[in-house]
Amino acid sequence: MTVDTLELRDFKIHRSASLRFAGGLNYLVGGNGAGKTSILEAIHYLCVGKGFSTTPDADNVRFGERAFDIQGDIDAAALHQTRVRYDAEEGKRRYFEDGKEIAKLADLFGKYPLVLLTPDDLALTHGYATDRRRFFDAVLAQSSKTYLNVWTRYNRAAKQRSALLSSLKERFNPRLEDELDAWSERIVEDGVELIRRRRRFVEEFTPYVERAYRETMLDEEQPSIAYRTFDVPDEALVDEFRRRLNEAREDERRRAQNLVGPHRDDYEFGAGGLPLRRFGSQGQHKTFQVALRFAQFFFLKERLGRTPVFLLDDVFGELDKTRAARISAYLKRVGQAFVTLTDLADFSFLETDENDRVVVVEKGAATAVSER
Ligand SMILES: Nc1ncnc2c1ncn2[C@@H]1O[C@H](COP(=O)(O)OP(=O)(O)OP(=O)(O)O)[C@@H](O)[C@H]1O
Ligand SMILES: [Mg+2]
Repeated sequence: MTVDTLELRDFKIHRSASLRFAGGLNYLVGGNGAGKTSILEAIHYLCVGKGFSTTPDADNVRFGERAFDIQGDIDAAALHQTRVRYDAEEGKRRYFEDGKEIAKLADLFGKYPLVLLTPDDLALTHGYATDRRRFFDAVLAQSSKTYLNVWTRYNRAAKQRSALLSSLKERFNPRLEDELDAWSERIVEDGVELIRRRRRFVEEFTPYVERAYRETMLDEEQPSIAYRTFDVPDEALVDEFRRRLNEAREDERRRAQNLVGPHRDDYEFGAGGLPLRRFGSQGQHKTFQVALRFAQFFFLKERLGRTPVFLLDDVFGELDKTRAARISAYLKRVGQAFVTLTDLADFSFLETDENDRVVVVEKGAATAVSER
């Protein structure tokens, strides 16, 4: 799949821009604040239906305007014209495909797969369990509709359950007690399903990470991923989950929180046999983060039978020249990718050919975006 064109109107810093992309690597080059990341986010809007930051849509409308409009042609099995429009007065974002509105973004499942590497990926290896769960849940949800459904149901049930715990904390109510038991059974059933799927996933995904890591690292160091959850085999998970819920009964009521379940699990990364979080160098961290994104890319490609679009925001920061050159060579094998660079002069190691394109992004009243 490729994103062939992009038209922006009043999106962030861009008043109006019209771009044609190459099927290979598209380098977006420009100074800080020129609008490179904004172009990646616009592509994200077209493929996923929403932005990638926590910024609300309203803040993505160019200051002083009332609506943004993003349009683009995507070649995925067939050519589709996609469009995202947000109007501040209406307060609503709308997604269109070939002129027809798609009301539920879930209907886009698997259609325009996308992998995004951003400087925020720091959190994958340096951050908290939440950051790592978010990554794994996202890849699982991108590759399996069933996972997405079970995950959604589990989180809904967990929310209901914590609301009930709050009510029960205020006063005893036998009817609510029964209801709580019912929700507990729901989170056990779906929670165990999530754990089993995550276990299987880590096994399948690890070879992809190993391959990607080898491509970017020079030495023979092995990466590893360990999924930390209930320490019992699959068939004992249901009993263990119930037992832990029982054990946590008083605590859960006191704190009015779900204290047990896969929403608290973690993934532990290792490099060369040592826990990355405690012993990893900056370069090892960065290599691991990059490897996770390349692994996501190739995993989805095989699973979905469709090549994802790869967005890489500032991937070369913090890397030495050798490693950057290796990543750049590795990128030649992915298909279409969008790569932001702050200063072309520093990137003499890049080799571009006729499948690639350099797009210069400049700040200015009209924010001219030119090709060369
Ligand atoms: N709604 C908006 N209207 C106008 N300008 C905006 C809006 N939202 C963000 N900006 C501006 O757009 C610029 C950010 O653009 P962007 O993040 O795409 O830059 P960049 O080229 O990726 O820069 P860097 O190299 O620093 O990452 C900022 O200067 C910001 O002030
Ligand atoms: Mg940027």
